[in-house]
Amino acid sequence: MTTSALHLQVLALTVFLVCAAAVTPAALAQQQQLPGCPDKCGDISIPYPFGIGAGCARDQYFELECNRTNSPPRLIVSTHRQHLVNLSLADGEATALINARRQCYNSTEGLIGDANNMSTRISLFNAYRFSAARNRFVALGCPNMGYFVDTVGCYVSGCTSICRPSQGSGASTGGCTGEGCCQSKLPNNTDYYELYIQTFKPGEGDPILRGGTTSCRYVFLAEDKWIDTTYRGSPDFNRTDDFAVPVVLDWAIRDVYNCSAAMRNMTNYACRSAHGGCFNTSDGQGYQCKCSQGYEGNPYLNDGCQDIDECKHLDKYPCHGVCTNVPGNYTCECPQGTSGDATMKNGCRPKDKFTLALKVFTGVSVGVFMSVFMCFWLYLGLQKRKLIRTKQRFFEQNGGVILQQQMHSSGGVGGFKIFSTEELEKATNNFAADRVLGRGGHGVVYKGVLEDDMVVAIKKSKMMEEAQTKEFAREMFILSQINHKNIVKLLGCCLEVEVPMLVYEFVSNGTLYHYIHGKEPIDQISLDTRLRIAAESAEALSYMHSSASLPILHGDVKTANILLDDKLNAKVSDFGASKLAPIDEAEIATLVQGTCGYLDPEYLMTCQLTNKSDVYSFGVIVLELLTRKKALYLDGPEEDRSLVSCFTTAMKAGRHQELLDNQVRNEMNEEMLTEIAHLLMRCLSMNGEERPTMKEVAERLEMLRRYQQHPWVEAKGNAEENQSLLGMEQQNSNYQLRQHDVLDLEEGSTYTFSL
Ligand SMILES: *[C@@H]1O[C@H](CO)[C@@H](O)[C@H](O)[C@H]1NC(C)=O
Ligand SMILES: *[C@@H]1O[C@H](CO)[C@@H](O)[C@H](O)[C@H]1NC(C)=O
Ligand SMILES: *[C@@H]1O[C@H](CO)[C@@H](O)[C@H](O)[C@H]1NC(C)=O
Ligand SMILES: *[C@@H]1O[C@H](CO)[C@@H](O)[C@H](O)[C@H]1NC(C)=O
Ligand SMILES: *[C@@H]1O[C@H](CO)[C@@H](O)[C@H](O)[C@H]1NC(C)=O
Ligand SMILES: *[C@@H]1O[C@H](CO)[C@@H](O)[C@H](O)[C@H]1NC(C)=O
Ligand SMILES: *[C@@H]1O[C@H](CO)[C@@H](O)[C@H](O)[C@H]1NC(C)=O
Ligand SMILES: *[C@@H]1O[C@H](CO)[C@@H](O)[C@H](O)[C@H]1NC(C)=O
Ligand SMILES: *[C@@H]1O[C@H](CO)[C@@H](O)[C@H](O)[C@H]1NC(C)=O
Ligand SMILES: *[C@@H]1O[C@H](CO)[C@@H](O)[C@H](O)[C@H]1NC(C)=O
Repeated sequence: MTTSALHLQVLALTVFLVCAAAVTPAALAQQQQLPGCPDKCGDISIPYPFGIGAGCARDQYFELECNRTNSPPRLIVSTHRQHLVNLSLADGEATALINARRQCYNSTEGLIGDANNMSTRISLFNAYRFSAARNRFVALGCPNMGYFVDTVGCYVSGCTSICRPSQGSGASTGGCTGEGCCQSKLPNNTDYYELYIQTFKPGEGDPILRGGTTSCRYVFLAEDKWIDTTYRGSPDFNRTDDFAVPVVLDWAIRDVYNCSAAMRNMTNYACRSAHGGCFNTSDGQGYQCKCSQGYEGNPYLNDGCQDIDECKHLDKYPCHGVCTNVPGNYTCECPQGTSGDATMKNGCRPKDKFTLALKVFTGVSVGVFMSVFMCFWLYLGLQKRKLIRTKQRFFEQNGGVILQQQMHSSGGVGGFKIFSTEELEKATNNFAADRVLGRGGHGVVYKGVLEDDMVVAIKKSKMMEEAQTKEFAREMFILSQINHKNIVKLLGCCLEVEVPMLVYEFVSNGTLYHYIHGKEPIDQISLDTRLRIAAESAEALSYMHSSASLPILHGDVKTANILLDDKLNAKVSDFGASKLAPIDEAEIATLVQGTCGYLDPEYLMTCQLTNKSDVYSFGVIVLELLTRKKALYLDGPEEDRSLVSCFTTAMKAGRHQELLDNQVRNEMNEEMLTEIAHLLMRCLSMNGEERPTMKEVAERLEMLRRYQQHPWVEAKGNAEENQSLLGMEQQNSNYQLRQHDVLDLEEGSTYTFSL
């Protein structure tokens, strides 16, 4: 007993478990019916608002019956007894099977099938309409005029079907197009019809009746698709059987007129699901419910619409990348490292790799560029600082500070300026080759244009001894204060470079050297011009030797250092390179400098530059002016290359006149030649003490010039006047004695002067 009881208990438990296991998946499947209601009749699903049995449907109009005694089970609409074979929530359609109305002619019994047959009158109630879009009216058999009428008996739609006499057995040209079969459209909103077949008496003269006849004629509504497939090609219209055809019914919630009306009474509103919506019917009053896009299920039930997991139906929702389901939608993205359209096959391309590489490359490039740029910038900064420091060092070395102090203490020097390297670089277009005015042993002279459009000459020396640089500032200061019409004005200097640069006033007509020895020499230079240039130069040197606070020696007097302006006024230049006269022994320069051909022989021996050294050099200039021969002419015989030795030799031989330039020879008379030759011999004396001072030279030259300016013929004719002129000279310098001296010189004896 106990064992059997136990067995029963185990069995019950097993059954329960099996049942539970069976129920669980069913419960998980999407519910289409109200709980506890059958959701299928045979193969046909019954979704709510339809329902089998009271309480399972929304209302009586959706109530269905399932007659399971039939096989397969038959689904019947309770209200009007239509046999349904299909139900669709999404389309709002149902398919009913409805018998065609038949009328056959029996030769013995006459017409069979009458107008009161049940199948002739089809009535739908409330929820259903015959779909105007999906159904057509058909009349079949010959001769046949079929039609249907509405509830008040008025004609609605119909057509006539005829068989051609020549053709036997109801053969047709094909389709349901009027021969053996005809069809017509339905109006909207049809929920009732009565089918009629117009009977014809055979044999009458009407052409319609001359054709063939069929035993039976039919009228019915049918689904368009069914008509098209059944009467395709050459079908047999000559049938006699009884048959039912599918008819599409539109169903809707038709208890209110439209959606806006339905939404006014939410308790009765059929669309229950949150993710569903209301749609007006296209066929009469009422509305339908549908799930929103991205959702599926039964919108007539609470939570009936469920999110579609699109990623599980990739045939419908194409995605060839990474599919992610989101409520109501899904995302489809290309796998990492690719990009493109993932919804297309091969839509994703590993383009990102390139982009990534590009990004990395760009990043690295920018980084490298920035680093290089920073380094370069830093380098530039350091270079600039170095440059500034170098400039400052040079400035101090060249006595810039002292010069500044001196300038300050003297209350500023008119017109003298300390230039920066940038200013001079700008003025000379970075010391361009086409700005070079001249080159010498000491350096290069550039033409420059300052900010204020002033034209200047900038001398850039090649080198300078340390000893010189110490004195430089002092020299600069003194030179800057000199203002003489026959001395090239020093406008300023630049001390920021190793060798200071000097800025002079620009003298337009070049050097005296160029004027008398130039490549394209001037044909005529009057004696007066020559004497004037000599006198002006002498005056300038004399001024420097005596007028300034400290005697300033030039040290390098030569034709290349005498400039000419546009009116051929002489301007002595390059005092910057000269020495100040030594005050004591310690300041004696150790460096011999000057130009070959002009060098004082005594200076060469003693290394002591004196004012008489300039006198010697100046003598050479006068010699050059009168002979138009260079101080050293390299094309002559070896012993005669020096103009000075040439001249002294010629003097001894009494042939010095031959040395003179033709023009000078023509313009100069005997007396003047003697006077000048004598002056030159004194200037060129080997012994410095025997040379006249620059002041004397200047005065004599000036006097000679004035003497020369007087018309010689007149002077010659008036011996007294001539005499007085010479007498004036005699007073000054004992002319007679000098005449004698010249003679002595001619004899080769040493010459002395007594002034
Ligand atoms: C079910 O169908 C059978 C056979 O057609 C019929 O006899 C029966 O009356 C039907 N039952 C209902 C409830 O309609
Ligand atoms: C039922 O309806 C569905 C969808 O509308 C259709 O695919 C199917 O062929 C129909 N079945 C019948 C028997 O009409
Ligand atoms: C006419 O009706 C009778 C009796 O129902 C039947 O025997 C006969 O076969 C029918 N004739 C035709 C041609 O259908
Ligand atoms: C109605 O027509 C069908 C088929 O044509 C037939 O079987 C049925 O007996 C008819 N009913 C009446 C009452 O005539
Ligand atoms: C239809 O078939 C019947 C007998 O089966 C025949 O007598 C009649 O001529 C046919 N009608 C047509 C139009 O072919
Ligand atoms: C039925 O109604 C629809 C839309 O309301 C319309 O497009 C269609 O033409 C109508 N059909 C007929 C036969 O009037
Ligand atoms: C929709 O229904 C409401 C209420 O029945 C009605 O007042 C309204 O006119 C209807 N709208 C249309 C376009 O028929
Ligand atoms: C809403 O519909 C219910 C059910 O049909 C009905 O009982 C109720 O009176 C309606 N309410 C309104 C305001 O129409
Ligand atoms: C239904 O019809 C009403 C009235 O014609 C209109 O206001 C409403 O927008 C329609 N609703 C839909 C979903 O078509
Ligand atoms: C779904 O997502 C796609 C792309 O993101 C968008 O174009 C589409 O409109 C979305 N559909 C809905 C119903 O939100």
